[in-house]
Amino acid sequence: MGKIILTGDRPTGRLHLGHYVGSLKRRVELQNSGEFDRIYIMIADAQALTDNADNPEKVRRNIIEVALDYLSCGIDPTRSTIFIQSQIPELCELSFYYMNLVTVSRLQRNPTVKTEIKMRNFEANIPVGFFTYPISQAADITAFRATTVPVGEDQEPMIEQTREIVRRFNSIYGPALVEPEILLPENAACLRLPGTDGKAKMSKSLGNCIYLSDSAEEVAKRVKTMFTDPGHLRVEDPGKVEGNTVFTYLDAFCRPEHFAAYLPEYAGLDELKAHYRRGGLGDVKVKRLLNAVLEETLEPIRARRKEYEQDIPEVYRMLKRGSEAAREAAAATLADVRRAMRIDYFDDEALIAQQAQEYR
Ligand code: TRP
Repeated sequence: MGKIILTGDRPTGRLHLGHYVGSLKRRVELQNSGEFDRIYIMIADAQALTDNADNPEKVRRNIIEVALDYLSCGIDPTRSTIFIQSQIPELCELSFYYMNLVTVSRLQRNPTVKTEIKMRNFEANIPVGFFTYPISQAADITAFRATTVPVGEDQEPMIEQTREIVRRFNSIYGPALVEPEILLPENAACLRLPGTDGKAKMSKSLGNCIYLSDSAEEVAKRVKTMFTDPGHLRVEDPGKVEGNTVFTYLDAFCRPEHFAAYLPEYAGLDELKAHYRRGGLGDVKVKRLLNAVLEETLEPIRARRKEYEQDIPEVYRMLKRGSEAAREAAAATLADVRRAMRIDYFDDEALIAQQAQEYR
């Protein structure tokens, strides 16, 4: 059995730079590395509904946005299978069986679920579907026999929970499932890109995102108002680099060749940081560099998006083909799971023959 990737995103909005550095960029590299036998990229609409049950229109509208963002970043549907979670009913059945292998207290301890419950003010009214989404995520991953799950660090508890379910399942029913490994972003600044306001994370509700589909003007505006060091008032003042969002973004996006192109008077990012710390380097200059660096990443993405936007029906056809292929793979795993769990009665001729014998 080969190396298989499964990963995905909830379609609750357009994808932003946090998604890009945290996972999209890596997915494209992994896709192009040729090291994987299969790559599945899932639009997790069913998971999105676990905390948007009353807003199906939002989820529905954003399927195409996420698909366009994938394609424009370089995910190639001839090499990666892009599909929609809700179109794979096998995932529900797997979740139903996995629920028997997980305790309520284990779910309550899942740190990501805990944080999300707080964020959504769900404390007293947690929807059961939301509470159990780590189990359904285990179904997503195992249905495709994924060996590798490239995600951001916030997803670590989900992968850990999946591994526990797999071990439990295999020890009870026999080795039918594959235990996946998480693949985290390499660059520390990419683990979690802060919002443009310096808050811990880009989030639509905080309005601190740079979206992959933002225009050059919108990006420039965001960079201009980006959080820096509030103590760095005059150019001459010494400035702080740690916790300074502009530098965090440079850590994530800047490569040595950018200096030759945009700021040849500096050898690299370390020199620029040193100057900022000493004083005498203004925010405007650093921001101008960041804007140029971001545009190098975003301009080709934007251009490709424009092309795909010209043929929306074809994007839907691609999603349909992907969902059909994904369903086949999930059905094969489900057949193995049923056999392992001994609920494959009608396919088990030995069972029928033996009981026929007993009753004769
Ligand atoms: N929980 C992921 C997110 O919020 C989305 C997701 C659903 C996912 N199922 C998955 C990611 C399986 C990786 C593997 O972004």
